[in-house]
Amino acid sequence: MSEMKQERPWWKESVVYQIYPRSFMDGNGDGVGDLPGILSKLDYLKDLGIDVIWICPVYRSPNDDNGYDISDYCAIQEEFGTMEQFDELLQEAHRRGIRIIMDLVINHTSDEHPWFIESRSSKTSPKRDYYIWRTGRGDAEPNNWESIFGGSAWEYDDRTDEYYMHLFSVKQPDLNWDHPEVRTKLYEMINWWLDKGIDGFRVDAITHIKKLALLPDLPNPEKKRYVASWDGHRNREGILDYLRELYRETFAKYDIMTVGEANGVSIAQAEDYVGRHGVFNMIFQFEHMTIDHGPGGKWDYRADWKLSELKAILSAWQKGLEGRGWNALFLENHDVPRSVSRFADDGRYRIESAKMLATLFMLMQGTPYIYQGQEIGMTNVKFESEEQYRDVEIKNYFGEAGANGLEPQKALEAVYRQGRDNARTPMQWNDGLYAGFSSHEPWIQVNPNYPHIHVAGQLEDPGSILNYYKRLIRLRKDRSVCIDGSYDLLLPEDERVYAYTRTSSEEVLLVLCSFSQEPCKVQLPEHLLAVPAAELLLCNYDGDAEPLTAEGAVLRPYEARIYSIRS
Ligand code: GLC
Ligand code: CA
Repeated sequence: MSEMKQERPWWKESVVYQIYPRSFMDGNGDGVGDLPGILSKLDYLKDLGIDVIWICPVYRSPNDDNGYDISDYCAIQEEFGTMEQFDELLQEAHRRGIRIIMDLVINHTSDEHPWFIESRSSKTSPKRDYYIWRTGRGDAEPNNWESIFGGSAWEYDDRTDEYYMHLFSVKQPDLNWDHPEVRTKLYEMINWWLDKGIDGFRVDAITHIKKLALLPDLPNPEKKRYVASWDGHRNREGILDYLRELYRETFAKYDIMTVGEANGVSIAQAEDYVGRHGVFNMIFQFEHMTIDHGPGGKWDYRADWKLSELKAILSAWQKGLEGRGWNALFLENHDVPRSVSRFADDGRYRIESAKMLATLFMLMQGTPYIYQGQEIGMTNVKFESEEQYRDVEIKNYFGEAGANGLEPQKALEAVYRQGRDNARTPMQWNDGLYAGFSSHEPWIQVNPNYPHIHVAGQLEDPGSILNYYKRLIRLRKDRSVCIDGSYDLLLPEDERVYAYTRTSSEEVLLVLCSFSQEPCKVQLPEHLLAVPAAELLLCNYDGDAEPLTAEGAVLRPYEARIYSIRS
């Protein structure tokens, strides 16, 4: 049995911390976060108790999509530092027992990557087929697919009078995975990084690499200009051949962890992706991240999402992978709003809410991912004007909203809810200039709430969100039931309390999380209440929690409790 297939590999016991380097810490005072900045915060991360850092792309890039458009896979973006500084960071992290995984962006490159420059130069270029080129249909694009960032998924290039495909921005041309040489080159690059001693990858947008054969028009009953193109490229047949090859040629040879960004993979297919013979150790699934999307998609906010729906989604993944695979647990990342603003209360009960959400996701079965700032309860941001936003997706949205005659205020409100820049404002380290992130005006403005939400203050306050995260991480490590225990949902219909148990042969953990602004009563099943010795392990309120009795429990607003029940 290889290292990867052990029952208890290290990545099952790890807690991962995600760093968005532009916004984490600026080491050289130019307003942009960088590698020396990360290095200077390793002790902070060690103290938090995390085991692995996932760093979003730091490769050379013209930065159209903040580094997800790569022009040189084997170089570090100058703004972030040098390869020597990367090596030093890796070494210093390892010295502290922290592993580093990198972001691997292989669905597309930058249009400034030498492969693409060569590819676009002529129809007979040896690299022409590294990308996906097609002739138009008269004046129209080759098909009706829409880019994930809005507009057509095709860009016309007058040099050769053809269009190239870009599922994301125009500066992110899609690689042609059907071309064997493309795959070989990618594997060489991946092994180059693995030989350097990094500890794995978060694999970007991986379900999009295989496109529907012949690239047909998608059904368009609403007669739209372009059609949301998921069906054309998300997890299409044949993709597993490429993924298995990728695994064999690269990951399988190393003791690493891999997590695939796997939009569109269902639980039924999870075995192929994360099962015993799966390609990845775990995947990010996004069903719970679309719970507040309306029929019009992400910008069409759906206010009436229900807690019972969230329970159903998360529980289906918990049960679906039990004994078969492994979950990646997350409520935030750099592409989604801040969880405390989205799922709970970022006002009066922000502190209780942030701790409650931490309790909820960190004790499920899987490897938890904490996104920078989540551990201090950072919130969404509301910039006053469009100019303050930086994200390419948000900019495209403003452009389209304007063209479609949407009032600017309405467009702003949609961005307040769902915009990716909510998660990309600078990390709030202290209440000084620019929140201690930089000595220079940052590339994106600091959230104005930094004077009362910052790391320095929370380090000193025993009752802070940060210190609660530390306790939670320790609790997870001290109890094997957190890793091995089975998950069972209680009270599936309750719209105010999310309650579940984790059960092993030695112990039952009972987790209670209130999503209500009012005190609320939970009636627990008798077999849990009958046990005399339910020990309260952690609660997000100070002082004593009201005991569990035959009547159940009354939870305070956004209260969370963890009990241990030993039989
Ligand atoms: C992934 C990344 C996102 C990026 C996109 C294109 O979804 O998380 O930030 O824009 O891929 O690479
Ligand atoms: Ca810098």
